[in-house]
Parts: sequence; structure tokens; C-alpha cells
Amino acid sequence: MKIIITLSVLLSGIATSTVAYPKPGETWKVLPNITLGSRQEHTTVALGTDVYILGGLVPPVDSAVDPTSNIVQSYSIAHNTWSSETPMPRALNHLNAAVVNGKIYVLGGLAVGPGAWPNWLAAGDCWVYSPRQKIWEILANMPNGTERGSAAVGVYGDTIYLAGGLTRLGISGQTTVTTVNAYCTRTNTWSTLESLPEKRDHAGSAVVGRIFYVVGGRINGEPSGMRDTVLAFDVSVEKGSWSTRAGKMPTARGGLSASAVGHTIYAFGGEGNVATSTGVFNQTEAYNTKTDTWTSLKPMVLPRHGTSAAAVGGRVYIPGGGIQQQLGGTDYFDVFKL
Ligand SMILES: *[C@@H]1O[C@H](CO)[C@@H](O)[C@H](O)[C@H]1NC(C)=O
Ligand SMILES: *[C@@H]1O[C@H](CO)[C@@H](O)[C@H](O)[C@H]1NC(C)=O
Ligand SMILES: *[C@@H]1O[C@H](CO)[C@@H](O)[C@H](O)[C@H]1NC(C)=O
Repeated sequence: MKIIITLSVLLSGIATSTVAYPKPGETWKVLPNITLGSRQEHTTVALGTDVYILGGLVPPVDSAVDPTSNIVQSYSIAHNTWSSETPMPRALNHLNAAVVNGKIYVLGGLAVGPGAWPNWLAAGDCWVYSPRQKIWEILANMPNGTERGSAAVGVYGDTIYLAGGLTRLGISGQTTVTTVNAYCTRTNTWSTLESLPEKRDHAGSAVVGRIFYVVGGRINGEPSGMRDTVLAFDVSVEKGSWSTRAGKMPTARGGLSASAVGHTIYAFGGEGNVATSTGVFNQTEAYNTKTDTWTSLKPMVLPRHGTSAAAVGGRVYIPGGGIQQQLGGTDYFDVFKL
């Protein structure tokens, strides 16, 4: 029933326009709203020239119902339109996702727990999505004790790296972890790696060259838990270890979105901003991994947290997110040009 309604809304909303890029000299460009409505705490990945959003919070009409969703949508950069994809086997928010060899992997997240929401608990569900057949296949769960959401995620070769994350997020608080492990998509096996030097969740992350970077993030909530660090791990060696780079983010924050283009990691927004009434950061800051330095760039037009960014063709796409600290999702979607 719900799917029929949402599909008809989608079909009536299909635009016939073409590729949407910022014009020369323009930094931010507004793109078509997410068609099925507002979304936050979802995960965004790029696959070819499509941008996928997975799960997160999709507010229902009844606010008594936990908004955690299994909805998956894709945005075609070439056609400038949104489409519906096959929903995930289970509703998750703060899920860990990555693309390897043309498939989307979901490796754990947070799921609805008992009692009044929000009471989100670690879920170790792992699945892989084949975009052409539009099917989800179920993989073995995350190893016992490593289930978590909101991990920093990076890809190197066939392997997906997960650093830190949350095992619990709700009215009674949140629990951040230092766990680091990796999933090899070729052998379908997990390995344990050196733990983070400090707990981290809601961080930005990217692999540049051979290094997995974890930027900013927080420990057990904001604003006191917000961090400005760049943690680095060499994924090309068997027994890698973490180091902390000298370059600090100009603005400590968690709930940011980040993506790498070339050797630079771009970090956007976040929550825990005591200087604004919304509690949301507008900062756009770029980390040059070669020089270990940060630069401040043009702020977000609509400051957001609780979304993730995906880089395609030298542009960074940021769908939805929260425009109010904690809950306050939007369907707004824009792209940042370097
Ligand atoms: C997105 O939706 C809002 C209302 O929620 C509307 O004001 C705005 O014009 C829409 N933007 C686009 C680009 O369609
Ligand atoms: C998982 O680990 C917990 C302790 O952390 C243990 O009590 C439980 O038996 C383990 N479950 C399995 C299936 O190994
Ligand atoms: C960005 O946010 C800061 C407060 O954190 C504010 O002072 C500044 O004016 C904002 N910039 C823009 C362009 O909105």
C-alpha cells in the first residue's frame, strides 16, 4: 500500500530536465528534492553516476512511530531525477555502507529497539545490493561483539574498513566504541584491526591513496564530545596502526558529511553548534592530505547534519540531512563544486 502511494508520487514528479551541475563560478547548486520526503541519518553512496540513499529516518504521519526506514532511492546525475530502489531487508539508521566492484554493501547499523523511540541498538545485519538486478542478498552478520552503526567507512581494493561507531543511541544516552575491523568482499571474511586511539562515531572518513582517514566526529554525544582530529591508518600493510595527524579541523564537530576528491577530503556541516539556534554547523572545510592542512571554503547554503556526502566527477552530492540538531530532516538536496 505504502509503496504504491510513494511510487505514484514519484512518477508524477519525474522531471524531464538534463544534467544538473553548478554553473561556472557557482559553488553550490540546488538539485531536485528527495522525492519520497525528508531524510536524515541515512547513508549516501555513489555508484557510477548515480547517488544512492539508504535507510535512515523517514518521518511517518504518526510521530509515535519510530521513523527508521528500509527505503532506498537513487538519483541519476545524467537525468537529474530520483527513482525508487528495492528496500533493504530491514529498517536501519546510521548504517555503514560502501561500494565495491559495482555493488552496494551494508555492514551493520542501528535498528529499532524496544520501548519508546528513539532507542536504537546495534544491528549486525550485512547485505549486498546488485543495482542492475535490484536485489539484496543476505551476507553473514558482523562478528559477535562488533555490531554497530555510525562507523567511519573506507574502501581499499576489495576491502571495506570500519572504524569506531555507536552501539546504542537513544533517550538514555549513546555509547561510542573504538572497534576497528575490515570486511573482504572477495573472501566474505572479517578481520580485526588495531582499535582507534580514542572512541569515535559520527565522523567523516575517506581512503586517499593507501591511508584511511577519520576526520572529526564525537564521543558519547555533543557538544562536549566533539572532536577536531585527523586519524590515519595505512591499509596497505598487514599490521597497520593509527596515528594522529598534526593538522586539526578548524571546527570540531560530529554529524558531518565528508568525501574525498583527489588528495583532498571535503567536510560539510555537522551538529552541536552552540553558536546557532538550530545547533547545526554550516562550515565547509577541506583537508589536504599531502600538506596536512585545512582550508575553509564557502559554507553550506542550507546547513545540515546527519547526512553523508558522495563525490562524483569532482563534485560532492549531499542529499537531505537534519536542519535542526537531533531531529529535523529535510528533502533538500544540493551539490558542491570544488
Ligand atoms: C523542495 O521542497 C520545498 C518544500 O518542502 C520547496 O519549497 C522547494 O521549492 C523544493 N525545491 C526544489 C528544488 O524542488
Ligand atoms: C557473543 O558474545 C557474548 C559476549 O560478548 C556472549 O555472551 C555470547 O554467547 C556470544 N554469542 C555467540 C553466538 O557467540
Ligand atoms: C555560518 O555560521 C556561522 C555561525 O556558526 C555564522 O556566523 C555565519 O554567518 C554563517 N555563514 C553563512 C554564509 O551563513
